[in-house]
Amino acid sequence: VDKYAVFGNPIKHSKSPLIHAAFAEQFGHAIQYRAVLVEMNEFAAAAGRFFEGGGKGLNITVPFKHEAHRLADSLSRRAMRAGAVNTLALSDEGELLGDNTDGVGLVRDMIANHGWSINGARVLVIGAGGAVRGVLEPLLREKPRELVIANRTPDKAVTLAQEFVDLSDAITGGGYDLWEGRQFDLIINASSAGLSGEMPDLPPSLLTERSCCYDMVYGSEPTVFMRWAAQNAAWAVADGLGMLVEQAAESFYLWRRERPDTGAVILQLREALA
Ligand code: ATR
Repeated sequence: VDKYAVFGNPIKHSKSPLIHAAFAEQFGHAIQYRAVLVEMNEFAAAAGRFFEGGGKGLNITVPFKHEAHRLADSLSRRAMRAGAVNTLALSDEGELLGDNTDGVGLVRDMIANHGWSINGARVLVIGAGGAVRGVLEPLLREKPRELVIANRTPDKAVTLAQEFVDLSDAITGGGYDLWEGRQFDLIINASSAGLSGEMPDLPPSLLTERSCCYDMVYGSEPTVFMRWAAQNAAWAVADGLGMLVEQAAESFYLWRRERPDTGAVILQLREALA
């Protein structure tokens, strides 16, 4: 039986074992996938033991994505840009390959599952933390007309935009003043403000009648940002549940060269949340 795991701290609420078990079942594969609580200073040692013990692939979640990035022998382009690794795979030569599937997960959820377009769109990203850095390369690959990063701490957004400007001159970063008097086709909330029930004061005039709003987190209830979008008649509103399943599907593909059907698994998780 091929062995996989997700390492994190905390890890109790991880849905990854359930998602990967559902994927494996689709192909009749027998795999083992465990959620492992790793002590704060033990990531590298634990990952080493896992692969020495025959582990085939590892997912990495908070707070170890940077350590996984350091541990990898080689990195995909998107993992390099993300500065973080959420997927480690052992190559046939015994090398640890580091990848980051979060961004492609987000993009696929928006395009394939929701039918939204990023190409040519005016995109606003709220927040400038690790979650944003993790998805910028795949977002820019879709060639948005503009990608504006607006953050509470303007400097962080400015710096982040500068790091990616070689990929696209559509990207800019700054404070909340950047959105003044402007409209966006797609607004992505990646600030953790909503988790504490706070949100920046978003003017409804940001929305056109066709604007789509995406929150990168999910829960049993709509987030503050999603409620704002719905109240102001956004065209479409979505949470990050599909992103979670899509990033897992991309990891599964990296490890096993099979593309799972994500729709059924998203539905299954959605029903379990209710
Ligand atoms: P993550 O991995 O989720 O991106 P992070 O790197 O800590 O976590 O980034 C958190 C993001 O949420 C940042 O953009 C942060 O803004 P600052 O850079 O100004 O700290 C944003 N954030 C968190 N709490 C917030 C709040 N109460 N109001 C506005 N933005 C907030």
